Amino acid sequence: MASPLPASVGEARIKPWPAWQNRSVPRDRDVRAFHDRAPSYESGWLGGMHHEIAHRTGQLALCLDRTPQRVLDVGCGTGLLLRLLAEGLPGSEELVGVDAATGMIAIASSLASDPRLRFSVGVAEDLQFPDAFFDIVLSTNSFDHWENQGAGLVECARVLSPGGRLVLTDLFSLWLAPTLLVGRRGRARTKHRASELLGASGFHSIKWHRLYALIIKTAVASK
Ligand SMILES: C[S@@+](CC[C@H](N)C(=O)[O-])C[C@H]1O[C@@H](n2cnc3c(N)ncnc32)[C@H](O)[C@@H]1O
Repeated sequence: MASPLPASVGEARIKPWPAWQNRSVPRDRDVRAFHDRAPSYESGWLGGMHHEIAHRTGQLALCLDRTPQRVLDVGCGTGLLLRLLAEGLPGSEELVGVDAATGMIAIASSLASDPRLRFSVGVAEDLQFPDAFFDIVLSTNSFDHWENQGAGLVECARVLSPGGRLVLTDLFSLWLAPTLLVGRRGRARTKHRASELLGASGFHSIKWHRLYALIIKTAVASK
């Protein structure tokens, strides 16, 4: 069953939701697994891959805007991307990460030495920040786990300042189309679906970048 959209989210939509965006995924299962994995998340070959994806996403973001005042990472995990960005953004005021898993936020907070880094537990679908608060919103490898991807994107658009950019990295590929016939039926796992959902959530000027291997891509979209 799709969870109902909050009124503010519904009002912010500019186009109807695509028909396939009618089911949510249970949040608990994924988030509990990430909570348990948090202490070892950055280790091993998988940790190395996450590091590389965060690094490339960060480089892309730095090319877009070298002077953002406030940066948000949604589904920040252990805070890897924001730690990397903090080094490249000495003039930024705040770099904020939210994640649904308390274990991830505990690790992210413990690894943050830069005082501008701030982490809190929260979900994409209900961001606890004022409208137009951030100049750039990023998310790496989290979108595929969001309970309601459309609601999460509307929230990203809401907290972005006008002209601000969303940098969304995840699994987006036609190779994943078969998974849409089974367990991931309501997911935006192709460029086509994700572009459709971004457009319906208030974003425009969507540009796609190949980021890692064949199936990890980044959408850059403007508010
Ligand atoms: C694969 S990890 C990616 C972590 C980090 N962004 C990275 O690239 O290393 C996915 C993260 O998304 C978080 N997550 C899942 N659903 C979420 C939601 N609805 N809102 C915010 N975070 C969520 C999980 O708790 C997990 O930490």
